[in-house]
This record gives sequence, C-alpha cells and structure tokens, in this order.
Amino acid sequence: MPNQDFAAIQAKYLMQCWSAQRDYAPLPVKATSGCWIHTSDGRKIFDLRSAHECINLGFSHPKVLDAMRRQMESVVYVSDDFATEPTAMLAQTLARLAPGGPDKKVFFSQSGASAVEAAIRVARLYMYNKVVKGGAQVDAPMQYPYPYKIISRYRSWHGSSAGAASVSGDPRRWFHEPLTVPGVVFAPEANPYRPLFGTGPDATQANLNYLDYIIEQEGGSNKVAAMILEPVVGSNGIIVPPAGYLKGVRELCDKWGILLIADETMTGMGRTGRMFAIEHFDVVPDIVVMGKALGVYCPLAATIFSEEVSRSFDDNIFGHGQSFSGHALGCAAALASIQVLLEDGVLENCCAMGEYLGTRLHALRDTHPSVGEVRGLGLFWTLELVRDRETREPLRRVTEKYSETIVKQLADYLLREKQIYVPTDKFGVWVVPPLIVTREEIDFIVAGIDDALKLADNWVAKAN
Ligand SMILES: Cc1ncc(COP(=O)(O)O)c(C=O)c1O
Repeated sequence: MPNQDFAAIQAKYLMQCWSAQRDYAPLPVKATSGCWIHTSDGRKIFDLRSAHECINLGFSHPKVLDAMRRQMESVVYVSDDFATEPTAMLAQTLARLAPGGPDKKVFFSQSGASAVEAAIRVARLYMYNKVVKGGAQVDAPMQYPYPYKIISRYRSWHGSSAGAASVSGDPRRWFHEPLTVPGVVFAPEANPYRPLFGTGPDATQANLNYLDYIIEQEGGSNKVAAMILEPVVGSNGIIVPPAGYLKGVRELCDKWGILLIADETMTGMGRTGRMFAIEHFDVVPDIVVMGKALGVYCPLAATIFSEEVSRSFDDNIFGHGQSFSGHALGCAAALASIQVLLEDGVLENCCAMGEYLGTRLHALRDTHPSVGEVRGLGLFWTLELVRDRETREPLRRVTEKYSETIVKQLADYLLREKQIYVPTDKFGVWVVPPLIVTREEIDFIVAGIDDALKLADNWVAKAN
C-alpha cells in the first residue's frame, strides 16, 4: 500500500539542496510525461527547467525507457576490468561526436561535479607527465612543482564538490571558503550585456588581452595547467559569448601551452541546437565535460580527453577513479538518448522551436519595462530583469542569490498561478524547456511569463 503522505515524509527527512530546511514543502508527484509533472492533487505543471536541465528528451521517453529495461535484463553494472556493450559503445560514440579527432578517451562518473573533478585532475597530471617526467620546456626556469593552476571565470558554476566548487565563480563557492582548493585564479567572463571592457570587437580583444596578462602573471606555461569555461554560461545567466571570444581563448591556450576544458554539463546533449555548444564557435577543446542530460534518467557524466591528453596516460598512471564508473544501465540510457536526439528530429525541433521561442520572448521586452535583455541559443533562454534599462541595474544582484527578491516572487507566482516551474534564484526568468517542446506549449509558457512579468514591472515602477 503506497504511503499517501510521502511529500510530508520527504519534507521531514530529506535535505533540500541549497536551502534552509524549515519551509521545505515538495509537491507530491503522481506521474510525469513529456514536459509535464502531474501532482497527486491533480495539478499539471510545465517543467520549464527540464528537471535541473537533465531531461532534454522530456520525461519518460519510451525509447530510452525500453533501452533501460532491456539493459536491466542482462547486466546493470560491472567494474571496468570487464567490458559491457553499452559502456564500450557510448565511450566510442562520445569520442567520435565530441569536437576534435576521433581517438579520444572517456572517463565516466555520475555528476557534472565528478566529471569536472576528473578534468582538473587529468589536466594537472598531464602537465606533471609533460613537464616533470617528460622534461618539456616551459617559459620560466623554475619547474617546481609543475603547471597546476586552473583559470576559471567569475560568472560560472562547475559543481559542488571541493575542486569543482573551487573553480566556480558562483556564490555557492562562498560556502566552501576559506577551504577552497588552492591554485585557482578567476578571469572576467565575456558578457556582451554587461561588458567590462567597452563594446564591440575591441572590447573582446581587450578582454582577451587581460586574460593573456593574467596567465602571464600567474606563471604562464610554468604554472598554469588549464582554463575551464562553459562555452555558453549556464546557471550564471545564460551568457552567449561575443564573436571571436572563444577562438581568442583557444589561441591563448595554445600560445601558453595550456589545456582548454569545455564544461558542457548544461549545454551538451543538444541544449543549444548543436550536440555541443562549443560547436557554434568552431573551437576544439582539449577536454570536454558532460553530465545532466547525458544519462537522461540515470545519473551519468563523462569527461572526454583529446588523443594527446589520453596518450599521456599510456604509460603513466591515470590517477583517478570511482565506483560505478561506466555503469552499463546509465550508458544504455545515454546511447538511446543520443540516438533519439540525432535520429528522431529532436535537434531539429530544438532549432525550430528555439527560434520561435526566441521571437516570442523578444516581443515581451517591448511591453515589459523590467526586461533588460532577452538572450539565448537553441532552447536555452533567459529574460534578464533590471531595475532600470538605461543603467542596467539588475533586479537581483550576485550577492542576493539567497535573498527574498522579486525574481523569487515571480517564480513562486508562475508555479502557483500559471502551473509553470522555474528556478527561483536566477537573474530573471529561466526559460529552459525540454527539447521536445511544441509550439502550443511555447504559447502556453509565453502567456504565463507575460502575465507574471507584471509583478516585476510593478516593482520597478514603485522602486524608481
Ligand atoms: C556547467 C555545469 N557544470 C557542472 C555542474 C554540476 O553538475 P552536478 O550538479 O551534476 O554535479 C553544473 C550544474 O548545474 C553545471 O551547470
């Protein structure tokens, strides 16, 4: 007999992420399908954050569920001293799909954070192998200890484990301080709406010049191992980089002999209309991180290493590992998901619906003074809310992530009144539907947001 009061039990016994626990009140779910969550009390809620940006295929995709069922009949998990078909085929598929030559290697884990940890560990070990063991030339004479520093950017999130949080600019890093992992340096992001170096191509070049300066001041090839970035910034505002920026970063990495790590945890698996967001910018990273939608309904993440990085471990120890790596069930789900994405028109739907959604959202800016900018790519969109369009003063500052703001009130209103679920802690409205979303569903979402924005408009009118 199922326990009818499981939501109250969950509220009592489960620690909710990134929240004070007193007011935790999860909604009881009876079923999920497509873009929708059906609650036990009869509500039908549109999940406009795709379950933490994991279910790019929507809930309960029959082909993925079938593949999982079939896999469960044979083998669910064995250690990597044994081979299973889905693990092998997924490693090969990702090695071939990710930008760059086909002879890459893949390490599987279960979360974006664990995949980022693997990327950082490998970048450092690769540099150790190259410089200390291999005697590679570096700029400065002193080689102690070896290139180990990681350059990241302020507007970024790479996960909550020690290393991943330490390379995250997001305020969630502050919970780890002062005990963050040493050797991390933050550069500015490239945000065309909030440019730090003026506007236009000169501004992009000025940003890159500053990055070049940072790398040199941090010891260049003698001390820096890698730069990590989200090709399109996710949690910290869905920021699409300006033309030429990522190419410029790649050139700087080559100039200094450091690795480029592309964290595609949120943007991979077709979210921006391409399999990997970095493909839009024609840049080949040395390491790619995937997670979230990779396993769709199974916790699965991957760190994909270029051939050159992989070769470094032919005769040197790959000093990393964890239980459940290469989980056959998760790999079977991921393989089925990739097949659906590429062969069932889901990527095409993402591009077509992304365009429609973008047009509809841009129109909202005309009638809502609180909307500062509408931006996105594929089905990855946000409306950034501002107090003043002229000054671009934000409605929610970086330091207010855990404060009661109008952005949170707007998200609460959308859930309560419009049956639309979005996160409460962003810089505005987060518009990240499953990639199977239809035109009618987009009309439903936009109508709800249009209505809810009145809250922000009124707040702005009063505040100014
Ligand atoms: C770009 C990026 N990297 C890493 C992570 C961490 O992933 P996980 O929560 O699965 O550890 C996230 C999560 O939001 C992310 O957006």
